[in-house]
Amino acid sequence: MTLVGNAQSTTPAVSGDVLEIRGGRPLTGQVDVKGAKNLATKAMVASLLGETPSTLRDVPEIRDVEVVRSLLEVHGVAVSEGEEPGSLILDPAGAKSAGFEEIDAHAGSSRIPILFCGPLLHLLGQAFIPDLGGCRIGDRPIDFHLEALRKFGAIVDKQPNGIRLSAPEGLHGANIELPYPSVGATEQVLLTAVRAKGVTELRNAAIEPEIMDLIGVLQKMGAIISYEPNRVIFIEGVDELHGYDHRSLFDRNEAASWACAALATDGEIFVKGARQYEMLTFLNVFRKVGGSFDITDDGIYFRRAATPLKPVTVETDVHPGFMTDWQQPLIVALTQAEGTSVVHETVYENRLGFTHALNQMGADIVVHPEGLEGEYRRVPRRELEQAAVITGPTPLTGAEIVVPDLRGGYAYVIAALAAEGTSRVSNVGIIRRGYEKFFDKLEALGADFDVVG
Ligand code: EPZ
Repeated sequence: MTLVGNAQSTTPAVSGDVLEIRGGRPLTGQVDVKGAKNLATKAMVASLLGETPSTLRDVPEIRDVEVVRSLLEVHGVAVSEGEEPGSLILDPAGAKSAGFEEIDAHAGSSRIPILFCGPLLHLLGQAFIPDLGGCRIGDRPIDFHLEALRKFGAIVDKQPNGIRLSAPEGLHGANIELPYPSVGATEQVLLTAVRAKGVTELRNAAIEPEIMDLIGVLQKMGAIISYEPNRVIFIEGVDELHGYDHRSLFDRNEAASWACAALATDGEIFVKGARQYEMLTFLNVFRKVGGSFDITDDGIYFRRAATPLKPVTVETDVHPGFMTDWQQPLIVALTQAEGTSVVHETVYENRLGFTHALNQMGADIVVHPEGLEGEYRRVPRRELEQAAVITGPTPLTGAEIVVPDLRGGYAYVIAALAAEGTSRVSNVGIIRRGYEKFFDKLEALGADFDVVG
């Protein structure tokens, strides 16, 4: 058992789970980024709300989509491949209750099952949600979700192995103010309010592009949703919704990850499908660090323009701030910047643990568990914040690494690609949960690696 990073790998290795990477070569070429993991999975759940089949396009071939597909199938939804490559047809006509064992067997490590609550309560008057998985980047509580469901009139019964919900009188509109602009809790409210009786007012909502795309999906189904300034969303419940035909917006987290790979390995990567608008904040930071980018109608070219890279101070935040999902790949590039950078993580309490393994590769990163004083804040400061102080440039050398979580794992692969010498990266299956055709893309970019386990 290898103790590296903040992970202690007890997960049994599966095939395609261990990479041997020979670093020191720039990544150059093109990657095609498909639909966003954090939209496509939610849009699939939304299909449960329609009276007719839905078509979702540009669905990424990733484990998280497979988990949601099998959860929908155990609930009687027929899921099939559409004519267009990468599209799914979801037909809820046969929707039915599912047994705890079936749900638990399919929930996997995903957090998406919690979003089945609203649609199943509307459809069947009851729902059972197993305890959730997801990346170990913090406690990942669901108190905002359960509080919102109670306000809609659901009876929430926490049990040893999950949560049983019922709504004998149906669900009604509610006035909900989130304590924090939670993406998942906002999605929970949207997926429940669209079919509730009456109007729902949601305050302090998340407004990420994936949320706005989900609102687009629901509006196509017949929902009435208006987005007001200052994170207020109104939803007028309707009696019936029909299926949608929707092309998911692109995965800006994957696009940002490949951009950081170009920075860290001094390569040039064309990310086909990436769009400027949803990546504005990332592009500003990318330029400040010493990257340059060219925006085209089909995607964005990312490359390093300055050597060494320049240090920056970044604070992760809710949209339109710098996404928490972007910070881990960025930190690897910052190990090559000349001077001291600071990354202040304000969303999750344990998303900097992955830096331990980077230090074993030669990086100089100090994590301050209490965070640092921020300047302008979109949301009140929370005690869980922490900050990484990165001093560079530091040459990286290959090491034995165990992937701890999705974005941290991707960051390790970039570090191994940027390092001199050979690294052995295990538990890579986690990365393939969220990055489509990960090995094919690495190969297309000229990475020198073998799958050894
Ligand atoms: C979504 O997670 C994404 N996952 C995350 O991406 C992303 O980092 C996050 O939003 C923030 O943008 C999916 O969409 C599947 P939150 P989610 O609810 O919805 C606290 C990736 O790498 N909170 O906005 O779980 C929570 O602990 C993943 O693709 C509560 O306290 O995020 C956290 O501190 C990682 N109680 C903060 O809010 C609740 O009931 C933000 O969480 C819910 C959340």
